[in-house]
Amino acid sequence: MELTIRAFRPSDIREVCRIEKSSFKDPWPCHAFMHLYLKNPESVRVATVNGKLVGYVVVDVEERDGKKVGHVLNLAVEEGFRRTGIGRALMEAAASYVKASGASEVWLEVRESNLVARKFYRSIGFVEKGKVRGYYGDEDAIVMYKNLG
Ligand SMILES: CC(C)(COP(=O)(O)OP(=O)(O)OC[C@H]1O[C@@H](n2cnc3c(N)ncnc32)[C@H](O)[C@@H]1OP(=O)(O)O)[C@@H](O)C(=O)NCCC(=O)NCCS
Repeated sequence: MELTIRAFRPSDIREVCRIEKSSFKDPWPCHAFMHLYLKNPESVRVATVNGKLVGYVVVDVEERDGKKVGHVLNLAVEEGFRRTGIGRALMEAAASYVKASGASEVWLEVRESNLVARKFYRSIGFVEKGKVRGYYGDEDAIVMYKNLG
């Protein structure tokens, strides 16, 4: 298996949306990916296996209380390719970008019921820092954090 992590290209949008729709009960509309990409082409990265697009991560660098922080906005790996290290590789690429942008920490929100994702994030060094009530409308978010050192 040849895994590559590379920058998103507009021609990837159909595959990204397909994975998004099959991964979430409240998927982002396709234009949300294009909007973030056009705002900052560095914010979306995709994973390919033997040339096939199998996952993506969206990360932003924001200013919070006067310091730069990374914020993971979306992450998914196609179902048949999960548990092979692709999520970890996408998050490593996102963390490298965040660090190169001058931030030393990354934050994210995850649905409280998404125990797989919470386990995944803990396995790559994130810790649970709190909860945002009603973040998803129908559910609370668990806020997770990682110091990139
Ligand atoms: C969360 C997600 C991105 C993880 O991607 P992945 O490519 O399967 O993750 P990896 O293979 O890199 O897993 C790294 C580690 O995370 C943990 N992990 C991942 N999936 C797990 C699962 N189903 N059960 C338990 N631990 C799991 C393990 O420790 C794993 O290491 P191991 O396989 O050596 O034991 C993937 O499950 C996914 O796309 N889920 C649906 C979308 C989603 O929930 N996104 C997150 C929204 S906040």
